[in-house]
Amino acid sequence: VTEIDQPTTASGEAPRGPGSGVAVEAAKRRTFAVISHPDAGKSTLTEALALHAQMISQAGAVHGKAGRKSTVSDWMEMEKARGISVSSTALQFNYRSAGTYSEPTDCVINLVDTPGHADFSEDTYRVLTAGDCAVMLIDSAKGLEPQTLKLFQVCKHRGIPIITVMNKWDRPGRSVLELLDEIGERIGLVPTPLFLPVGIAGDFKGILRRGTDGEPAEYIKFTRTAGGATIAPEVHLDPEKALATEGEDWETAAEESELLSATGQDHDPQRFLAGETSPVLFASAMLNFGVRQLLDTLVDLAPPPRGRDDINEQHREVTDDFSAVVFKVQAGMDTAHRDRIAFMRIVSGEFERGMVVTHAQTGRPFTTKYAQTMFGRDRSTVESAYPGDVVGLVNATALAPGHTLYTGKAVEYPPIPQFAPEHFAVLRATSAGKYKQFRKAIDQLDSEGVVQVLRNDVRGDASPVLAAVGPMQFEVVTARMTTEFSVETQFDRLPYTLARRTDAESAVELNRQRGIEVFTRTDGALLALISDKWRLQFIQKEFPKLTLEPLVATA
Ligand code: G4P
Repeated sequence: VTEIDQPTTASGEAPRGPGSGVAVEAAKRRTFAVISHPDAGKSTLTEALALHAQMISQAGAVHGKAGRKSTVSDWMEMEKARGISVSSTALQFNYRSAGTYSEPTDCVINLVDTPGHADFSEDTYRVLTAGDCAVMLIDSAKGLEPQTLKLFQVCKHRGIPIITVMNKWDRPGRSVLELLDEIGERIGLVPTPLFLPVGIAGDFKGILRRGTDGEPAEYIKFTRTAGGATIAPEVHLDPEKALATEGEDWETAAEESELLSATGQDHDPQRFLAGETSPVLFASAMLNFGVRQLLDTLVDLAPPPRGRDDINEQHREVTDDFSAVVFKVQAGMDTAHRDRIAFMRIVSGEFERGMVVTHAQTGRPFTTKYAQTMFGRDRSTVESAYPGDVVGLVNATALAPGHTLYTGKAVEYPPIPQFAPEHFAVLRATSAGKYKQFRKAIDQLDSEGVVQVLRNDVRGDASPVLAAVGPMQFEVVTARMTTEFSVETQFDRLPYTLARRTDAESAVELNRQRGIEVFTRTDGALLALISDKWRLQFIQKEFPKLTLEPLVATA
């Protein structure tokens, strides 16, 4: 999510006060994240959504924004120059379902941003834990790409429902059935299109809406607008008129629909919510084709926020007292203030700015005077918020990802899993005599979840190993070491590419092996770092009894 002009806060318009009912507010909310590979069109789609929600009057502000394809070294500068725009965390807007397919409903949509591109990191995974649903955005010419697959694994692990959007249908690409087959075959998610495109990729005329039994229900014909800057006008035609208008293109879409029904690929709400099937839409984010249908699908099909089980398996309902989970901590976003913002996703109850909540991990009170919601680089103070909403807490030094805040009955939610790192480096202080600061800084960055910190007796405390999901995390560490702790550091990459969870018994044998080294992570987990998958396969074959378990997400 990037700079979007003049945001209007959805929560500013929602009914408020204790009488308004947390249940009603929660039911209105849809909180989702977009998972995609760089360049699939996430920024363009975000902008198109904002356009449809009337947050902006014209698309194009985000297009070609400076630094989007920035290199590693630009990133820090970019963050400084652009405030929080590199990972602005959450975008909230009201959406009134136009009522074509459902009764009009006022909904509050929360789009949780997954920082993408070069800054792919553990944060990218963590923010997925803040959503109730994911939109898997695919470039129709490319199909499934690596980053999408990784993020999909996290969604699958959490069992969250996934809506698939085949984007860029205005450009030549692959065929409908080929793209759908790939989803079914490669990730085992049964694609159940709600709409099918009329016109092949590159000749996008409109969409066929499928009825419940796969029968063509209607044709929605789109008209291009200049530069795709405004909402594309739609004409709705019945199947007969559609045939008369589009001829063969309509017939093809209708046949595809029939074929999909024959193989059971019709939308099934229960299987969708169970994460077994995925409703599919075809769109052009650039031309704003199919974007309104995506919003309607979110409103009509995506689940509203639900309660959660805590670490003692006690269930907290959305209507219970306030509780929230911190899913991301960002430091130094605003150089003028040098602050630290913890982003929390509200699980239950009503949040009111200024209320004093309890930090479950320390048992200490925490005042929320400076609660904020974020819109691109703009921050605005939030007065109240409800389950599903994301709120930023300023100067939240004690808070780390996975922490719980609550009022009333005590609750602590399970920690966010630590994801499988794929990049490893040794960190050393290069400034002499700064060992104490160095250790303190490492502990701080570790507790914030900036990187995972691994140690073993052989390497000792002066040269901990940093483990990351994306290499950019190392850059962040060294930069923050300099600016915040005045310790100059240097990292050297290690030749490992895989981590597996092991146990003390197996560690003895593993440490004897070439290309393997065992470490203890701060949470106590024993991790074996392995040079590559061939080495892993060899060890597993030679020593089948050793414990080598995949970690979450990218295993
Ligand atoms: P990302 O955030 O997922 O990385 O993707 P982004 O929206 O930046 O889009 C990547 C490129 O794909 C952009 O082109 C964008 O205009 C284009 N794009 C996005 N959606 C569509 C679509 O539906 N159809 C077509 N034809 N193109 C689309 P660019 O040339 O890299 O940048 P720009 O100069 O257009 O900003």
